[in-house]
Amino acid sequence: MIKIKSNREIGLMRKTCTLAASVLSYIEPFIKPGVSTEEINVLCHDYIIKHDAYPSPLDYHGFPKSVCTSPNEVICHGIPSPDVILKDGDILNIDVTTYLNKFHGDTNKTFYVGNVDPKIKELVEVTYKCMREGIKTVRPGAHVGDIGAVIQAIAESAGYSVVEEYCGHGIGREFHEDPQIVHVGIKGKGVKIKKGMTFTIEPMINFGSKECDLQKDDWTVLTKDRSWSAQFEHTILVTERGAEILTLRPEENENF
Ligand code: MF3
Ligand code: CO
Ligand code: CO
Repeated sequence: MIKIKSNREIGLMRKTCTLAASVLSYIEPFIKPGVSTEEINVLCHDYIIKHDAYPSPLDYHGFPKSVCTSPNEVICHGIPSPDVILKDGDILNIDVTTYLNKFHGDTNKTFYVGNVDPKIKELVEVTYKCMREGIKTVRPGAHVGDIGAVIQAIAESAGYSVVEEYCGHGIGREFHEDPQIVHVGIKGKGVKIKKGMTFTIEPMINFGSKECDLQKDDWTVLTKDRSWSAQFEHTILVTERGAEILTLRPEENENF
């Protein structure tokens, strides 16, 4: 069942999504060589609690931490750890979900740690473009397949692959609601998009093959070929005119 949000619910979605976005802005200056992903987890956790919200990942189906931290060959759902210490040249995705006034807001960004190889920077930039162009297809009457088709075309024409096992999702009172937003597809196919829907677009793009390798902790997802992987995520609201990006950061505006 796909929930259409009322004006009141949209107001609350705006608040939680603005907070989630502000966590990514807040954490950026801490992302440096020598910092552990557990330190990043604690900083994000404390920031979210201080803003009267709860970090949705904490205890979600048993997830042990407050944010997901996914470096390099980790596709998604990396678990913060004092043993994972950032080093020059790494990339790190931080995925933040906040629960505020009974609504979830979900966003992530892939950060650079020091000086990153230009080939990897290109992967990250193309992944951002995939998310942005996916968002641009959204309007009432469009289909979910339109989003996937655009993302797949951009990623594959750059020589990369799109992860299919993990998807975007409706979001609101629940962390993961219908519909699923698959990041590959065919234009005109899939669920028809309606005004008042809120969902995420969060493509995971691999430098090598799309194949995933779930680790024994049952959370960490690596690329099977250990090539590096990038991701960006926004929560969007469908309006008459298109998509409003609820998790847009102020410093990000110029890119859209
Ligand atoms: N935030 C992730 C998403 O974009 C989900 C993380 S589930 C968790 O859907 F349990 F790992 F937090
Ligand atoms: Co999400
Ligand atoms: Co997320």
